[in-house]
Amino acid sequence: MTDHRAELIAAAVAALEKAYAPYSNHPVGAALLANDDAIYAGCNIENAAYPLGQCAEATAIGNMVLSGGSRVKHLVVVGPGEHLCTPCGGCRQKLREFSGRTGIPITICDQRGNILLETNSADLLPFSFGPENVDRIRS
Ligand code: THU
Repeated sequence: MTDHRAELIAAAVAALEKAYAPYSNHPVGAALLANDDAIYAGCNIENAAYPLGQCAEATAIGNMVLSGGSRVKHLVVVGPGEHLCTPCGGCRQKLREFSGRTGIPITICDQRGNILLETNSADLLPFSFGPENVDRIRS
């Protein structure tokens, strides 16, 4: 299998450049490899009404869904500073929807594309609640 890591990192770095983050001044880029083997990228998009800001991972997932993708195989997140820009709790759950219980690789990089951490979505969200956990009671 081709290793898409370098391509994903380049796409996430390019996405960070497009970030709209005037309030936090913390631009973030994300790129994911989908089940159609396409790469979908996203940046964070903040809002004057602060709680309405959208994370880079959510933008990338939205781009994937819009193009017909349904599964994330690998996610790269690029942050602007020296600290790890790991997905927030909400994004871990959003990713869970499209990555399954056993998890997918997540690569965290700095703005120059240096890898800071290799982890796995299942490690970031243990005992996760996903689509198969939705038990509908009979009415
Ligand atoms: N942010 C992301 O886009 N992704 C992450 O993984 C962590 C945080 C954004 C949200 C907000 O626009 C800014 O970074 C500061 O929290």
